Amino acid sequence: MRIVKTKKELGDIVGEKKAAGLTVGFVPTMGALHDGHLSLVEEARKDSDFVVVSIFVNPTQFNNPEDLETYPRDLDKDIKLLEKYSVEVVFAPSVEEMYPEEDTRHFDFGQLDKVMEGKYRPGHFNGVAQVVSKLFDYVKPDKAFFGEKDFQQLAIIRRLVKDLGMGVEVVGCPIVREPDGLAMSSRNQLLTPEMRKNAPVIAKTLFDSLNFAAGKTVKQTRDAVVNRINETNMLKVEYFDIVDGDTLQTVENWDDSDYIVGCIAVFAGKVRLIDNVTYKNRSHEH
Ligand code: PAF
Repeated sequence: MRIVKTKKELGDIVGEKKAAGLTVGFVPTMGALHDGHLSLVEEARKDSDFVVVSIFVNPTQFNNPEDLETYPRDLDKDIKLLEKYSVEVVFAPSVEEMYPEEDTRHFDFGQLDKVMEGKYRPGHFNGVAQVVSKLFDYVKPDKAFFGEKDFQQLAIIRRLVKDLGMGVEVVGCPIVREPDGLAMSSRNQLLTPEMRKNAPVIAKTLFDSLNFAAGKTVKQTRDAVVNRINETNMLKVEYFDIVDGDTLQTVENWDDSDYIVGCIAVFAGKVRLIDNVTYKNRSHEH
């Protein structure tokens, strides 16, 4: 496994492998790796000849400076984990390497980034698009792997690739959960023991709402989820939106779409957790 810090070195390695006809699988991360990330690496490994993982805490996607400062970082531990997965290259650039000058690009995602995370974290998806477009440009992947926990991010990246004609296949991978249901996230390690005890209520409430939704309206389901989580000591819902899985716009009725997802953001103290659940998809009526 090679640990590469510069675009030049990365470009040389990838160029050589692509010239030899190998397919490149890419897993972009911000480090503090957990089993969710490792499941993406496993998928990439199955699907590609050559696997690149990037580790870069991207400052332009943090709308909250304190969140950027406290975001967990442990490059040595991450590298040890990736060694076990026979990853070929870890790209771990500095901020100066990625942003030698300010990135002033503004992306337009129509209505996709006006809701949910986009509404509560202004500028977040523009920062994600800046870094992912640069990374795709340097890594030149055939396929890139993203977790479905960041449901809106996945939709935005699919749109980015389409708008820029990047020719990268974006592969969404299922949420990986702790045994008690909590969706894996690098931010989980910032939870106090007391918060950690309460946090699984988020996933449990979402899963229970799948049954509750039968015979209830979208609004009743939404309100029940929000109230139940807010009743829990320490948890505060920022939003819970039940949306069309493609357009991300809220639905009023279960018949409004054949693909319906509930996306939630919850504060446990200052730690912000997100999760989602699918009420309806094309092959599976709720
Ligand atoms: O999902 C993440 O970890 C980040 O948003 C990503 C895609 C690595 C871009 O910084």
